[in-house]
Amino acid sequence: MTTVTAAEAAYVVAALLFILSLAGLSRHRTSRSGVVWGITGMVIALAATVGLASRTITASGLVLIAVAMAVGGGIGLWRARVVEMTGMPELIAIMHSLVGLAAAFVGWNGYLDVDAELTGSLLGIHHAEVFIGVFIGGVTFTGSVVAYLKLSARIDSRPLTLPGKHVLNVSALVAFVVLTVAFVARPGMGLLIAVTVIALALGAHLVASIGGGDMPVVVSMLNSYSGWAAAASGFLLANNLLIVTGALVGSSGAYLSYIMCKAMNRSFLSVIAGGFGAPAAADDGEQGEHREINAEETAELLRDASSVIIAPGYGMAVAQAQYPVAELARKLRERGVEVRFGIHPVAGRLPGHMNVLLAEANVPYDIVLEMDEINDDFPATSVVLVIGANDTVNPAAIDNPTSPIAGMPVLHVWEAAHVVVFKRSMAVGYAGVQNPLFFRENTQMLFGDAKQRVEDILRGLDALDTPVPEMAGTSR
Ligand code: TAP
Repeated sequence: MTTVTAAEAAYVVAALLFILSLAGLSRHRTSRSGVVWGITGMVIALAATVGLASRTITASGLVLIAVAMAVGGGIGLWRARVVEMTGMPELIAIMHSLVGLAAAFVGWNGYLDVDAELTGSLLGIHHAEVFIGVFIGGVTFTGSVVAYLKLSARIDSRPLTLPGKHVLNVSALVAFVVLTVAFVARPGMGLLIAVTVIALALGAHLVASIGGGDMPVVVSMLNSYSGWAAAASGFLLANNLLIVTGALVGSSGAYLSYIMCKAMNRSFLSVIAGGFGAPAAADDGEQGEHREINAEETAELLRDASSVIIAPGYGMAVAQAQYPVAELARKLRERGVEVRFGIHPVAGRLPGHMNVLLAEANVPYDIVLEMDEINDDFPATSVVLVIGANDTVNPAAIDNPTSPIAGMPVLHVWEAAHVVVFKRSMAVGYAGVQNPLFFRENTQMLFGDAKQRVEDILRGLDALDTPVPEMAGTSR
């Protein structure tokens, strides 16, 4: 068997492992094995690629590849070990930016180093691949950098609204098509520089125009773009595995974006076009008086409750409150209270973020329900505990058509008899919009770190269970 045949066979095995990996990652129970399939596939793919390269690369070139892999792999390992779960979306965004940058570099290299055997229409196709690769790579690069800056709160998450922003986006796309035709007919560095600049500007503008509430869709959309950028590089490098892998990432990312748009009642086209049709920013000021409750009073409320729904959000992840929350659920169930969790599809900062945290704390799967499964049950619920959630329980999404989150489905927590909101202040959530829930008659705010407050409630419940010793002299 020649090196090329062995490498192609290894590529087929790696591609199958990547497909298995995606299948595994689609369910919590199988996600660990999904990760193992993915790592195995990537090790095989890298070994086969280095094997292929060793035929034409000198020993010093191979050493350079090994050094680059060790440095890159080391940084990746370090970041993956230290990243907090809440920092995952920004890590993913910055990783996507590297895929985009690599695709743009591969494109530029394809222009500077053309295979002398390519002539006629094949050369034209090559130049089209160069141009498209640089364009997709450039958009992915700056789009991901802006997403990283927004997700890590280094820049404002509110949408940028330049005058005529849709005209700017459409003009950039038209310019790309016209320049592609010109480049295929007469390749030149000037045109390549022009498309690079347009792509970089378009990527930054598209993502800057999208508001905080729609960022989950943006992250999965950039995931998709990074896949297409990798596929474009695969064509240029004549690497079948890169084409297959890029297409897998591109299509699964596009499908995930579509599912998230449906879950959030957003138009897919509107989001990828940079928030086309997004409503104007709404009032983020306070909206009346709020009422407060303390942990002991909350414990009493829970003691008298027959059914409780817990709506967790990003704040539960920040506070790492999932363990005491799981303990609270266990204690209440022991007392005969019906306890369930209501999970919004974009609660937290990652798809499935809350499910992962609750699974980590051993909350039984059967009491963790999706938004659609639980939304009709709030009117019959005694107490809802909103633990560090904000945008995902905001009634303005339903009541206020001018709100930036208007139309987004939310958990109808306010329909319960009592709502207790755990947060540290009256600050707004990720979308930057004030939440009228906090000012409703049946809502009480429990201020402080969510973990500490839940622990206080656990102590409060224990105290309620402990019989008060009778005072000396009162017994007969
Ligand atoms: P958010 O709207 O982000 O609100 C989280 C709340 O947690 C804040 O109001 C904050 O209030 C509170 N909080 C923070 N730290 C806390 C702590 N230690 N203890 C108690 N409370 C704490 O949460 P959400 O309802 O989960 O909504 C998620 C938002 O993120 C949505 O807008 C969504 O579109 C966006 N997003 C989601 C994803 C995915 S895929 N899930 C990705 C990117 C963005 P205080 O500061 O007053 O405590």
